[in-house]
Amino acid sequence: MISGSKIDSPKKRSRLSGGVAVAAVLLAGFFLLHSQLSLRSVKAAPDATASKTTADGVYTSDQAAHGKDVYSQQCSACHLEDMSGSGEAPPLAGESFTDSWAGHSVYEFDQTVLNTMPLDNPGSLDPNDALAAVTYILEKNNFPAGKDPLKDDPDTLKNITISTKK
Ligand code: HEC
Repeated sequence: MISGSKIDSPKKRSRLSGGVAVAAVLLAGFFLLHSQLSLRSVKAAPDATASKTTADGVYTSDQAAHGKDVYSQQCSACHLEDMSGSGEAPPLAGESFTDSWAGHSVYEFDQTVLNTMPLDNPGSLDPNDALAAVTYILEKNNFPAGKDPLKDDPDTLKNITISTKK
């Protein structure tokens, strides 16, 4: 075994260096391909990961109408029917809404409602009711309705940014 391996070793070395050469060629090819792919993916990025804003019609009027019922029953006692706020409860429409929430995702806003509101009974809202209330708040902030209802899906909601544009 020992003597055999001594005899074999030059062959092994040449096989090894051949392997290194092949690996080098493959590696070079990979980098070339990779740099081309990444160039292409930079160009494709705006389409591939199209993120939306609340100006893009991300909920339906029906959904907001359901949200209005939820809001009247669960929120208006403190935030008032017209969302102007009262006492400690801040306004949910107008400049103070965009001051607080512009640049944040609809996901963050929905989670805030779901986890902290109503203040006197947090965590009690059905997730679909909370999301409907969120769409009603968007409507009251003059964001347009669209064709498709807002889906209660984290990835969808994270991809929609609350904007100052209407
Ligand atoms: C019992 C009174 C009360 C009820 C009912 C209530 N809220 Fe609130 N809400 C508050 C108060 C008070 C705050 C401020 C809490 C704080 O600053 O920690 C608040 C804060 C909020 C905020 C954060 C506002 C911001 O700009 O930071 C949102 C959003 C909100 N409420 C939505 C709702 C929704 C939607 C409902 C109904 C599902 C609701 N609230 C029901 C009292 C209430």
